[in-house]
Amino acid sequence: MSRVVVTGRIPEVALESLRAEHEVDAWEAAEPIGRDELLNRVAGADALVTLLTERVDAELLDAAGPQLQGVANVAVGYNNIDVPVCRERGVVVTNTPDVLTEATADIAMGLILMATRRLGEGERIIRRREPWAWGMFYLLGSGLQGKTLGVIGLGGIGAATARRARAFGMRIAYSSRNPCSPEVAQELGAQRLELDELLRTADVVSVHCPYSDATHHLIGAQQLALMPDTAYLVNTARGPIVDEAALADALSERSIAGAGLDVFEQEPQVHEGLLELDNVVLVPHLGSATIETRTAMATLAADNALAVLRGEDPPTPV
Ligand code: DGY
Repeated sequence: MSRVVVTGRIPEVALESLRAEHEVDAWEAAEPIGRDELLNRVAGADALVTLLTERVDAELLDAAGPQLQGVANVAVGYNNIDVPVCRERGVVVTNTPDVLTEATADIAMGLILMATRRLGEGERIIRRREPWAWGMFYLLGSGLQGKTLGVIGLGGIGAATARRARAFGMRIAYSSRNPCSPEVAQELGAQRLELDELLRTADVVSVHCPYSDATHHLIGAQQLALMPDTAYLVNTARGPIVDEAALADALSERSIAGAGLDVFEQEPQVHEGLLELDNVVLVPHLGSATIETRTAMATLAADNALAVLRGEDPPTPV
């Protein structure tokens, strides 16, 4: 029997499958585990099941010890994990791709609608008990039909968002390191553009690329300046891909029309400048937050950890 440390709360069904084969030490509190507690708990672990709120680096691997075989992240993004250091030490890293694609695309589309149709603004007016009345020019937003969605990173989630946008009558352009498959390009009628061109021409830009050194502040002041003042930016990928301070400036100067954010540079903090603004919708990293999706993510992570401990190939290695 091996020792598996689960660093945050995950659905019971996933814990049960781990417990059926191993001794499991799971952090049960609702708030994220503190760093010191985490470093203590991982000592002697053979596998870790981690959440994206935990940093997995050399210090953590040292604290765990040389018997550690695998780190199963319960997220598709794994920027919280120092993968090269894990590889050097022979620790297998896994993530949870695909199972959260549709849920995250739903939130991206939701943010597109909320930002372009000013739903957050309208809701806040009613909650503040402010007087309002139907009016020909009251809270006018921007329609999506015939507009262009510019997808940055046309992977699974980007394509699923584009499919939804097509159902709303949008055209699709994308910018990606590599071209998408001819089948996906044809299905979506997607045109590949250089990032600058995409920013200049898209009516709504939705960010779906992974976060890495190469994509840190991919959208900064210079890139925002390329966008028309009628355009919207949505980010459901990772906060630091967008320079939040630059975005707050662009939104307050109305050099872009609006934004919708599910992710932030320093979660759970949100840039103060954004909190003041009406033309940005802010939600707390809810992309994968459905019962079905979180259950599927945790189950896949458990399957990954179990496979590594059995000496088998895990279903979804990084
Ligand atoms: C992921 O899996 O990377 C998502 O951000 C979790 O919601």
